[in-house]
Amino acid sequence: MTETGAQTKKAQKLQAPKGVPDYLPPDSVRFVATKRALVEAAELAGYQPAELPVFEDTALYVRGVGESTDIVGKEMYTFPDQGGRSLTLRPEWTAGVVRAVVEHGLDRGQLPVKLWYAGPCFRYERPQSGRYRQFQQMGVEAIGVDDPALDAEVVAVADEGLRRLGLGGYRLEINSLGDETCRPEYRERLLSFLRGLDLDEATRQRAERNPLRVLDDKRPEVKAQLVGAPLLVDCLSDSAKEHFETVLAHLRGLGVEYTLSPKLVRGLDYYTKTTFEFVHPGLGAQSAIGGGGHYDGLVADLGGQQLPGVGFSIGLERTMLALAAEDIKDDGAGAVPVFGVALGSAAKERMTRLAGELRKADIGVDLAYGDRAMKAAMRAADRSGARFVLILGETELASEHAQLKDMRSGEQSAVPLPDVVAELARRIAAEH
Ligand code: HAM
Repeated sequence: MTETGAQTKKAQKLQAPKGVPDYLPPDSVRFVATKRALVEAAELAGYQPAELPVFEDTALYVRGVGESTDIVGKEMYTFPDQGGRSLTLRPEWTAGVVRAVVEHGLDRGQLPVKLWYAGPCFRYERPQSGRYRQFQQMGVEAIGVDDPALDAEVVAVADEGLRRLGLGGYRLEINSLGDETCRPEYRERLLSFLRGLDLDEATRQRAERNPLRVLDDKRPEVKAQLVGAPLLVDCLSDSAKEHFETVLAHLRGLGVEYTLSPKLVRGLDYYTKTTFEFVHPGLGAQSAIGGGGHYDGLVADLGGQQLPGVGFSIGLERTMLALAAEDIKDDGAGAVPVFGVALGSAAKERMTRLAGELRKADIGVDLAYGDRAMKAAMRAADRSGARFVLILGETELASEHAQLKDMRSGEQSAVPLPDVVAELARRIAAEH
């Protein structure tokens, strides 16, 4: 390497790709706790985990998500592998879940198939607050039974997950996109309405491909023209209407509050009947923390039987932003309850043994490492957030005792070394 080359290499600071967040403590602790709370809500309703590939054949998303969507049109991370296959990093979970369910024949077993998932998705979007190129979704899919009660359950699981986190400032918007008996007729009515508007060429083309998508246009000049647009709720077939009303009745029964949102269409093509979004006003432009809906055709489109499905996905980054907007803190989350400070090599060895015994007894413990003076070690103990500090110096070791300090009350007492594990277990149990 030339000298300048070496210098450049040294000077170059490596950074994560644009729009890709890192999670490190304390945010990472919050992140994991957030995911866990959402998963708990799903497991309480009988959903089981699905672990699926991060990349799939490109054709899956083209067929599953829909060619007219922004995701397929311009946001996918698509690349050829060494064998010349076209692969795409997962932009969303639903298509992959349905692919796996069909591929492994779960759609021929006990129905509904109820799965939860959590993991990264990738979309080449313009990064901004709440919008990233790699982001994480937690979600569920319930596949195989057409029952409005199941749609309501899915919505309620998402709502319960968000409530478990302490969130209360969001709004659930819900709509029905109709079914195959009313959607084609509505599509024609909407299209002829849109053809009469003053729209730019790109929007005009979008209207021809998928007129419903134009209803979701956020630009003021388009929104103003959409005021008199025909709405799907006014055109629903009797069965779609009954389905929707039953979903709403179940939601009322479950105590889930909702707002009817007749122009809600969502950005993916597979939806029919119930669609919904959880919107948080504290998030600015990217206000949807999660969304989902019912899909009648996707399973068959991906080679399975003619079976419906329903699901939601919640964006974990946006959920974290919502927690910040509502000033919900979880102080001390992730901290171990015990911090050990040992002075001198003999005491350090004894402390290492104690730490092993505590961890075997399911008591979390961190230690002061490096040869720090007592004052610096106690500062580290304080920063760790541990409730109890064990102190072991030469004097304590000689008398086979450790000093146990309660960081909340400031009280300190000597505990015989053989009793330390039992004493800490007793005090921690008394906390709960
Ligand atoms: P989606 O609305 O495209 O739906 O995404 C769900 C959530 O993922 C959004 O509400 C948002 O919180 C988060 N999200 C999406 N894009 C980004 C981004 N660029 N940066 C950060 N967060 C983002 C789906 O993906 C459907 N698969 C949901 C579903 C499941 N429908 C039926 N089952």
